Amino acid sequence: ATTLGGAAAQTGRYFGAAIAAGKLGDSTYVNILNREFSMVTAENEMKWDATEPNRGQFNYTNGDRVLNQALNNGKRVRGHALLWHQQQPGWAQGLSGSTLRSAAINHVTQVATHYRGKVYAWDVVNEAFADGSSGGRRDSNLQRTGNDWIEAAFRAARAADPGAKLCYNDYNTDGINAKSTGVYNMVRDFKSRGVPIDCVGLQSHLTNSPPGDYQANIQRFADLGVDVQITELDIAGSNQANGFAAVTKACLAVARCTGITVWGIRDSDSWRTGENPLLFDGSGNKKAAYTSVLNAL
Ligand code: XIL
Repeated sequence: ATTLGGAAAQTGRYFGAAIAAGKLGDSTYVNILNREFSMVTAENEMKWDATEPNRGQFNYTNGDRVLNQALNNGKRVRGHALLWHQQQPGWAQGLSGSTLRSAAINHVTQVATHYRGKVYAWDVVNEAFADGSSGGRRDSNLQRTGNDWIEAAFRAARAADPGAKLCYNDYNTDGINAKSTGVYNMVRDFKSRGVPIDCVGLQSHLTNSPPGDYQANIQRFADLGVDVQITELDIAGSNQANGFAAVTKACLAVARCTGITVWGIRDSDSWRTGENPLLFDGSGNKKAAYTSVLNAL
């Protein structure tokens, strides 16, 4: 195959990109998107601050632009993200306790209902675990509503869109470490108690290469009975091309690693300003990292 999406499809996988609604008028950007990618994530447009700017008032204008760009061009969509401690609207940042819990679960229900039947998967909860050695939850306004907030969110998402795969997504969970083991223990607990969870996203914001135990970490999640996706891949550093190949090979080596998404299209689109961590240069030309991924798929 001659494209990322086409090559990934040879093994039943997808290759996706995060995109921004505001760039859909850029023909270079849209040409690469339509040619190369088979999955789309909205970089910001489906987050809480974008979709519910005022409590109970929902705005899907830009989320729908991203969704329709994908669906009208034969691509699937990963919804991102229903609940997260960042990019909350100001009104939610000011709530706590049972009021915040109700607002959060209502948010999950409303947004998942709006997109019911249209998204392949949701990042239901994003980045809820702490960095460092604790292996525990991150402190946040959501966590302070009670440790069961994550399972309540997954149950609400399942009820609202029974056809969507429901994922937990995080960063610095790429290798086997205290944080990823905390997530692993939560997923194992959810599976044992019948809390609905279908997938784990490893963001994989990397420098040079993935951890040496990356494939083993993907495999241990898969062995719990969930799919794994690489959800926000970007790699800074001089070993970038080799790093992209290593990530791709690790995913392909695990049957339940079902797809890879890069967090942007051109280096100039990246949130990691100045790090040039993506597969296309600022002019839209394929980089060595692109060829490295295509050859590994
Ligand atoms: C980033 C976007 O790329 C930026 O445009 C925005 O300003 C901040 O958020 N982890 C995530 C993504 O789950 O939603 C973040 O996206 C990057 C880190």
